[in-house]
Amino acid sequence: MTKKKPITERVFSGMQPTGSLHLGNYLGAMINWIEMQKTRECIYCVVDLHAITVWQDPAELRQSIRQVTAAYIAAGLDPKKSIVFNQSQVAAHAELAWVFNCVARLGWLNRMTQFKEKAGKDREQASVGLYAYPNLMAADILAYRATHVPVGEDQKQHLELARDIAQKFNNDFKTSIEALGHPDGIFFPQPEPVITGPATRVMSLRDGTKKMSKSDPSDLSRINLTDDADAIATKIRKAKTDPEPLPSDEKGFEGRPEAENLVGIYAALTHRTVESVLTDFGGQQFSTFKKALAEVATDRLGRIGDETRRLMAEPGYIDHVLADGAARARAIATPIMDQVKDIVGLLRS
Ligand code: AMP
Ligand code: TRP
Repeated sequence: MTKKKPITERVFSGMQPTGSLHLGNYLGAMINWIEMQKTRECIYCVVDLHAITVWQDPAELRQSIRQVTAAYIAAGLDPKKSIVFNQSQVAAHAELAWVFNCVARLGWLNRMTQFKEKAGKDREQASVGLYAYPNLMAADILAYRATHVPVGEDQKQHLELARDIAQKFNNDFKTSIEALGHPDGIFFPQPEPVITGPATRVMSLRDGTKKMSKSDPSDLSRINLTDDADAIATKIRKAKTDPEPLPSDEKGFEGRPEAENLVGIYAALTHRTVESVLTDFGGQQFSTFKKALAEVATDRLGRIGDETRRLMAEPGYIDHVLADGAARARAIATPIMDQVKDIVGLLRS
């Protein structure tokens, strides 16, 4: 019988390997990932099983998994310290997701706004995987009994679902969990979203009311972490604005989402407050501000792009990082999955 251990703090997060990462991923999530690895046990995943909820070209998918891994490392994740791996190499994710498919209720999933957005009008044609996607996400986190999940604003609803699943599992199997040596009946912790930082919702450069996204058909809408200085400068020059000069305080952003977004990005990249950026640029034309923004963005992202390209030239190294990460991840997740089987009443040898 397993003895009850205190639940330790553990961080888990992931990104999908579909296309290259962008400024929203970096400012919304990754900055926190890098910060958290300094003080806590962290597990960072390339969620390839989530990627195939919509069809992916197999050769491009393989390339994207390596590229996102390279971008993680280039941005500052240390694969010796943190666990960095791709989801499909650790079977516990898919196994626990199945158990959660049987715990979560249809009504809960029907409320997920991201599914509605992604499936669009023709919901009948969406894959079953796209619908069940949040259950797999809950499994990612809870296969490690992780307690903290740094993500951008758009993942808040999925995290709430993961908390509901953890709670329902604990309730549904209370007696069995207690018999296994958890006297308080708690097997899964309630994972906490960590949605903080300079820019938890970075908007599209073409439309300040839409979030910056990998799936936007216009590449001008986002700054990719692999864009070179020329591409960054062009995208910022072409970014949508309005004819007014920059406002002198935050109240002046009323009805001006593009202005608010660009100033927010500048503030996040330079570790300054929006107020202080407006003290410098309030009253000035966008043309002046955009030059300054292009400079700071190139400075910060240029290095990440260069390092990503350098790492991509060494696929052997990337594959080694992923294999090593997967082995370390398995060492945590397999015993937890074994306990889940015991709790649910599945026989194992
Ligand atoms: P995804 O690209 O959907 O795999 O998202 C990976 C992470 O980046 C998640 O934590 C998202 O919440 C975050 N993220 C994606 N787009 C944005 C955005 N435009 N602004 C802030 N965070 C974002
Ligand atoms: N659904 C997340 C996204 O699209 C990615 C993700 C999958 C994730 N599993 C996760 C994030 C577990 C945090 C924890 O952004």
